[in-house]
Amino acid sequence: MTGVNIIGAGKYVPDLVLTNEMLSQIVDTNDEWITTRTGIKSRHITNGEPTFHLGVMSAKEAIKDAGIDPKDIGLIIVTTITNDFSTPSVACLIQREIGAIGSMAIDINCACAGFVYAFDMAKRYLETDKNLKYVLVVSAEELSKITDYTDRSTCVLFGDGAAAVVLERDENKIFSSYLGADGTGAEYLLARSYNSETPFTTNFNRFDDKMPDGNSHYLFQNGKEVYKFATKTLPVAVKESCKKIGLAPDELDVIIPHQANVRIIETAAKNLGISMDKFYINLQNHGNTSSASIPLALYDAIKDGSLKRGDKACIVGFGAGLTYGGIVFEF
Ligand code: UT7
Repeated sequence: MTGVNIIGAGKYVPDLVLTNEMLSQIVDTNDEWITTRTGIKSRHITNGEPTFHLGVMSAKEAIKDAGIDPKDIGLIIVTTITNDFSTPSVACLIQREIGAIGSMAIDINCACAGFVYAFDMAKRYLETDKNLKYVLVVSAEELSKITDYTDRSTCVLFGDGAAAVVLERDENKIFSSYLGADGTGAEYLLARSYNSETPFTTNFNRFDDKMPDGNSHYLFQNGKEVYKFATKTLPVAVKESCKKIGLAPDELDVIIPHQANVRIIETAAKNLGISMDKFYINLQNHGNTSSASIPLALYDAIKDGSLKRGDKACIVGFGAGLTYGGIVFEF
């Protein structure tokens, strides 16, 4: 079976740590509510560094960790919902800074499932193009750019950060993916792009896009609907990605879920009949960083020894779109 080998990992978070206490000074909330409802204690927030810079820093560490020449990277996939420019892509800016000139470079937007989608794409490229040596996947997010810090229902949840992996083809590792999306839930989690009225616009405010009213570019979330979707989807994605290769979920050594809310993970663990000990959690220190959350946790799990060589792992994400996906792979 063709799989991938993670030969390097990197992580970068801004210095500023925004604690629950600090948030309770700017909005009507408190540490007790945030901790018991989400598990989050603090998150990192940029003080102006752009998204691509976070990505560059994490990519540089991953490349150093892998011990490769950046010129041998044939494909850079960046996952983000908080790009600095509509164009060029974050991937091109990262490519410029790391010296991988000539590689393919693309951004994908699959929200919190972004890293799972990118990991799957990387594997498929490596499998079908034997000239491709290394793929760099970078997930870089600055949710603070689209967060309304007067809205307590969302501003306590999100944080900024980036993480990266260097991947190579491995003919002897297990790999299985189960990815999907349900656009009928698009209205539950969104952030509008900037409005672009032109001299020719006549029905700008009349077109029914089937999304909640408002022209704000801040994140809007129907927490209850997304919670329901997440608790239903997470176990399904784990089970289905395992099933494709005849593995029982309890044979997994480590599960690295999207870090949105510890209660979602606890509910999924119960549903799967798997001990919480197998779920890697670092959301207490990062909050929800959308597509960066899984690779940030993956990085921490590698560095603290929770994920060891030979382990069977599952990464599983869910988010705006609504998108979802699980991948089982051997580390
Ligand atoms: O990454 C994308 C995926 N996103 C997710 O997975 C998020 C899924 N949703 C959730 O995790 C949860 O729905 C939230 C954490 C967002 C909210 O938790 P909840 O238990 O569903 O709370 P709620 O929205 O039902 O609010 C309960 C109460 C309300 O007060 P009343 O109406 O009962 O008096 C809120 O006004 O808590 C209040 N509340 C707060 N209180 C203090 C809401 N936010 C806060 C806050 N601090 N930050």
